[in-house]
Amino acid sequence: VIASFQPKLLKGKRVLITAGPTFEPIDPVRGITNLSSGKMGYAVARAAYEAGAEVTLVSGPTALTTPYGVRRIGIQTAQQMHDIVMAQLTANSAANATDIFVAVAAVADWRVANASSQKLKKNADGSAPELIFEQNPDILATVAALPKPPYCVGFAAESENLLQYGEAKRIRKNVPLLVGNIGHDTFGKDDNQLVLFDANGHTDLARASKQELARQLIAAIAARLGNGPR
Ligand code: CTP
Ligand code: CA
Repeated sequence: VIASFQPKLLKGKRVLITAGPTFEPIDPVRGITNLSSGKMGYAVARAAYEAGAEVTLVSGPTALTTPYGVRRIGIQTAQQMHDIVMAQLTANSAANATDIFVAVAAVADWRVANASSQKLKKNADGSAPELIFEQNPDILATVAALPKPPYCVGFAAESENLLQYGEAKRIRKNVPLLVGNIGHDTFGKDDNQLVLFDANGHTDLARASKQELARQLIAAIAARLGNGPR
């Protein structure tokens, strides 16, 4: 049975969400990024607000408008997203701590270590610049490893073996809930289909609009927190 969405499921809860891609500069006019429209993350933020939560959305560059009632903090790089998320989690005192963290962002796994402060120019001999990459911090894994973590929900876009990779990723990231989808099937689209992985196994959420799926996800999170029907 799929938990059903109700307006007060997350009343009084604080929810922190990451969404969109990150952008890692190569020079002042170029960079590398990930495919992500931000639609799923923004839909989750909207659904959490509709469920009565106080919602903060940390977002990479997207073309979307901020959902009504949601506090949005814009960032570019994975390091900035990491720093804002950690500041949000530690700024809140125990009395108003973040209850739920949903990492929907498509975070760039690497940044350019030798980014240039000036625009790179083409070389007359046709040679190309050499970029050196270094790994970005894993925001979700860092949050999940805090001494008193919020309820952590990860997302995974895989291109194959979703059931196998999804469960493995949930365990590797040490999160109670991981949401899987097939990457090429979702980017930029208004609909999606999801698989929820938790300690009991996996549950399919049938193809629907991202907004409808976001409501189902919020209901599933509330159920696992002991709010609302399971
Ligand atoms: N994530 C994160 N910080 C990162 C990378 C990923 O917070 N630096 C989060 C994503 O927002 C998502 C989850 O981790 O919720 C899974 O992201 P994914 O890219 O699928 O996982 P990775 O561990 O980076 O593995 P892969 O090698 O498959 O990219
Ligand atoms: Ca990744």
